[in-house]
Amino acid sequence: MARQNAVITGWGFYAPSRVMTNFDLEKIVDTSDQWITERTGIKERHIAAEGETTSTMAARAARVALERARLRPADVDLIIVGTCSPDYLFPATACLVQTAIGAERAGSFDVEAACTSFVSALAIANGMIVSGAIRNALVIGAETLSRFLDWTDRGTCVLFGDGAGAVVVEGSSASVGIESTVLHSDGSKGDLLWVQGGGVKHPASKDSLAKGLHFLKMDGSATFKLAVKSMADAAEEALAAAGLKLDDIALLIPHQANIRIIEAVGKRLRFPAEKVFVNVQRYGNTSAASIPIALCEAEAAGRLRRGDKVLLVAFGGGFTWGAAVLEWWGSHLEHGQRSILDRAARALEDVVDRVRPVG
Ligand code: UT7
Repeated sequence: MARQNAVITGWGFYAPSRVMTNFDLEKIVDTSDQWITERTGIKERHIAAEGETTSTMAARAARVALERARLRPADVDLIIVGTCSPDYLFPATACLVQTAIGAERAGSFDVEAACTSFVSALAIANGMIVSGAIRNALVIGAETLSRFLDWTDRGTCVLFGDGAGAVVVEGSSASVGIESTVLHSDGSKGDLLWVQGGGVKHPASKDSLAKGLHFLKMDGSATFKLAVKSMADAAEEALAAAGLKLDDIALLIPHQANIRIIEAVGKRLRFPAEKVFVNVQRYGNTSAASIPIALCEAEAAGRLRRGDKVLLVAFGGGFTWGAAVLEWWGSHLEHGQRSILDRAARALEDVVDRVRPVG
């Protein structure tokens, strides 16, 4: 099979309709709109309704992304869901999405790297497409962290929100697409941001419930400092791997955890604030969903144009961090003929590969 690049050809997101404002939180814990706004930039977040789960939100986002890519569910090769709040320990949330959208041929698995899960999933999809192992992938970041929050802990419950974002990544002979991905981790700091209960170390029990082990716990200031340095380092590494400079980047889409982290990363990189996409004020920290939701909103706001170089950078529990550089292509709806021809050419290549004698 000829060398191909991995290109984002569809995107979509879903946020639950229930919006919880800082003023709503003032009624639940000892906090204030002023504190949350000043310390995090968050004004409101979306919270999943009863019955809504990570897989149902992921499936909604996926359908929008597929529609935009003009790809039928039956033609999807692989579904990867990045999440640390899966519906079940197993089966994988990706399998639930596979059935919900009718992607009857697709392989499915989850990736768990907390808030870095989407970038990790994108890196896997990119590698598999570039290697020729698959033609396309549905890459999703989806979370329902509201179900893991201790709603009496003001240090965490004000920070997170629920939602899902999805992209379709397809192989293309066009010289655009994902140009580099970098991933890192430091497991020695896993206990600075974690949910201890529910796994095999602390299976659900009366004791684990009494100790609140099923709640998300975080050392906020330690996480903050490492997030800034790690995201800035990963951004520079991904740029170098792509052979680009910061000046080449049209838009930086960072993980949306805290406006102060985003600003500090921009400052450290000496990157202009007007080229940084921010929507943390309306969603809070949606973990793995934050970058794909931000990407969708950036596109809708006209901040992603064909040919733009885009830098994605994430940091999360584990600790994990990573970045990706890509050239924005846009959807098949915009590029009509060319991408249809591209697909036809690849289908032809597949046939030729199959009939070519071995040896
Ligand atoms: O998704 C990837 C990982 N997550 C992150 O990147 C999040 C990283 N951390 C943060 O965003 C920030 O550290 C926080 C927003 C969590 C906290 O901000 P901070 O400036 O680091 O505050 P702090 O933890 O040092 O707390 C300052 C004070 C404390 O009171 P005392 O001990 O100084 O009296 C807290 O008890 O603020 C208090 N506080 C609050 N007050 C009102 C903590 N949470 C709240 C609250 N409302 N919700």
